[in-house]
Amino acid sequence: FHLDIDASETDKGVYPYYMLKEIDEQVIVAHTLSQYYFDDNAQIQNIDDDIISAIKAADRLYIVAAGTSYHAGLVGKRYFEQWTGIPTEVHISSEFAYDQPLLSQRPFFIFLSQSGETADSREVLDNVVKQGYPSLTLANVMNSTLTREANFALPLLAGPEIAVASTKAYTAQIIVEAILAHAVGNSQIDLKNELAKTAVEMQVIIDQKDEFKAIAEQALRGQRSAFYIGRGLDAAVAVEAALKLKEISYIQTEGFAAGELKHGTISLIEEGTPVFALLTQSKTAGLVRGEIAQVAARGANTIIISGKKLAKKGDAYVLPDVNELLMPLLTVIPAQLIAYYATLDRNLDVDRPRNLAKSVTVQ
Ligand code: G6P
Repeated sequence: FHLDIDASETDKGVYPYYMLKEIDEQVIVAHTLSQYYFDDNAQIQNIDDDIISAIKAADRLYIVAAGTSYHAGLVGKRYFEQWTGIPTEVHISSEFAYDQPLLSQRPFFIFLSQSGETADSREVLDNVVKQGYPSLTLANVMNSTLTREANFALPLLAGPEIAVASTKAYTAQIIVEAILAHAVGNSQIDLKNELAKTAVEMQVIIDQKDEFKAIAEQALRGQRSAFYIGRGLDAAVAVEAALKLKEISYIQTEGFAAGELKHGTISLIEEGTPVFALLTQSKTAGLVRGEIAQVAARGANTIIISGKKLAKKGDAYVLPDVNELLMPLLTVIPAQLIAYYATLDRNLDVDRPRNLAKSVTVQ
């Protein structure tokens, strides 16, 4: 693999912050990826047969990552399980490193990382190599430690990501996980075409930035805490959405499985608490509507981001419909933009939040 990086990619250009540039670049990354791994006959072009056979030989997949990459793993798990039929676990690197779960007979490890240098993930890879298990790293920075030391590596092709809050690496990870799971499995979905359609819809959402600026200002100005809720894939995106908002705006935000709220956390809901609900999965849409009503009854300011076919009057933003499994690629964009504008509204440095580093190379 070869990725050309020219100066313009690491220059903010007309953008006030790298984060906004990188949010915008997700469309081009999605287009690139939707072409890159496929040839004209929709055959896999660039995923080595050895990778595919190594995954097929496994009885369980272990996705290991930190931060936003871990959240991309929560989404990818669904692709591996649905399309390959191989049970898939997702683990936080810093936990797995010193509390390794009982492994299956034939495990295969997938490391997700933007930088390829995260110390917690490197520690796990070291252990995995010592135990002789096969591994693959999906990273944005090739030639990094995690790509060199795993048996296999695939690039995310997102281009340099500079802002501390990860955006395009997350969407690229989801896309490469989907492409890989699709290559290993036998799903009937025309993934190349579905991804191309999704990229078009990502652009539609990105072109409506003003809507998210208004939502951020109305819902979050003066607030100290917030929630993102959803079920299934929407719960997976909810934790990433919450991380985006809290890490740069410093608004304490919880991403929560909507059905679990009633088991304790709902006591935090007060008059005016902003609760963003993600509603894109038809199987659970009715239940999530119920959970939204429960928090609203306790005074929450509910902001509903729904998929078109599940939308109702009064929803704050309606996403275009794509294949439900790919909806995370759309749902995360409003969350990224809401985090961005809430942070601007507080006059904080979007690209360099306090206490954080782009790449954490110590444990
Ligand atoms: C740091 C960054 C996060 C990132 C995490 C994992 O904490 O601030 O944005 O998600 O590391 O990094 P990686 O490079 O392994 O994806």
